[in-house]
Amino acid sequence: MRAHIVLAHPEGQSLNGRLARMSEAALSERGWATTLSDLYAMGFDPCDRPEHYATRADPDAFRVETEQRFHAEQGTTPGDVAAEVEKLSQSDLLIVHFPLWWFGMPAILKGWMDRVFLYGAVYRSTMRHDTGFFRGKKAMACVTTGASADACSHSGQEGDTRMHLWPVLYSFRYVGFEVLQPELLHGIGSAIHREDSEGRLPALDALTERWRATLQTVETRSSISYNSDGDFEPSGRLHADAPEHSPFISHAPKI
Ligand SMILES: Cc1cc2nc3c(=O)[nH]c(=O)nc-3n(C[C@H](O)[C@H](O)[C@H](O)COP(=O)(O)O)c2cc1C
Repeated sequence: MRAHIVLAHPEGQSLNGRLARMSEAALSERGWATTLSDLYAMGFDPCDRPEHYATRADPDAFRVETEQRFHAEQGTTPGDVAAEVEKLSQSDLLIVHFPLWWFGMPAILKGWMDRVFLYGAVYRSTMRHDTGFFRGKKAMACVTTGASADACSHSGQEGDTRMHLWPVLYSFRYVGFEVLQPELLHGIGSAIHREDSEGRLPALDALTERWRATLQTVETRSSISYNSDGDFEPSGRLHADAPEHSPFISHAPKI
């Protein structure tokens, strides 16, 4: 088995940095092969822009979808993006590590998705959801929040973190991944970096060990239920008798 691990955090000594290294270590110990993309350390450019393309399908106007599809067909996708697509294609599992920033993922991870989920090659109208490019593979998010578990619950003042993650995780579903239930680590403040009298970091160590335990059974972790393609009418609306799996795709408006 092979996992590709993506880290979206500027500091290696952060909890997220430690969790990503634990992903490598714990899966390797269990016989998995791993690759790690530390996006900040790589200097990954999250913005698709004309400078990434030496030649252009349309020299007059820069359209992301036009250039992504053209260069995928020509085999001239920018090297940093092609390398990520290759690592994902070789892997059985994608793990993304990130802190919740303004109720969503950090911009560098959003930009990784904008550029790596290539139009024409990774998705198109006839290749998404049930027929997505990465079908047969799994994806999982490990997310930290500053706010407490209570504040991030369904009735919490921060709003339900599971709802905030919907756009990230549904993007994985869109490109065909089976999406595992996320790991949520709440209440991560500066206190977790407090040393004990012997110079250890007990709170950080406990959270990292909790993540190690999760990885021991990742093969059997339950996944999130989504509507299948057959649940929708040709217009794109949910069939009246189709199941409802989330407030985002529902029979009655929630707001
Ligand atoms: C720009 C920014 C935005 C943040 N937004 C949120 C937020 O919306 N909700 C929350 O609970 N914490 C928020 N936080 C706190 C981080 O989630 C928290 O510091 C992080 O999860 C701790 O993990 P780390 O030590 O790996 O950075 C934010 C922090 C920053 C720097």
